[in-house]
Amino acid sequence: PKILFIAHDGKEHLVDGASGQNLMQIATDNMVPSILGDCGGVCSCATCHGYVDPAWIDKLGPKSEEEEMMLDGALNTEPTSRLTCQIVMNDALDGIVVRLPASQI
Ligand code: FES
Repeated sequence: PKILFIAHDGKEHLVDGASGQNLMQIATDNMVPSILGDCGGVCSCATCHGYVDPAWIDKLGPKSEEEEMMLDGALNTEPTSRLTCQIVMNDALDGIVVRLPASQI
């Protein structure tokens, strides 16, 4: 399934990921900028923050309490903010669009 990451400067990164991988892994494997993934995907750093396109937000499961807590402490969050390490790719998410913050710090 494909994911379209749109960087803060508007540059588009269309990447392919495997079902079962999380979006942070797929982004870092493809050198997508602004996704750092410092904690390795265990929901404890928030350096994988991205804005999920509103058209896709309902296709994701709800945020866990840990994800809510980490996002509360993250900068520049919006209602569509998610931690990309907590989104696991599957065929239903083929074509998902995620915009990226200018920086994670
Ligand atoms: Fe650390 Fe997502 S990679 S919270």
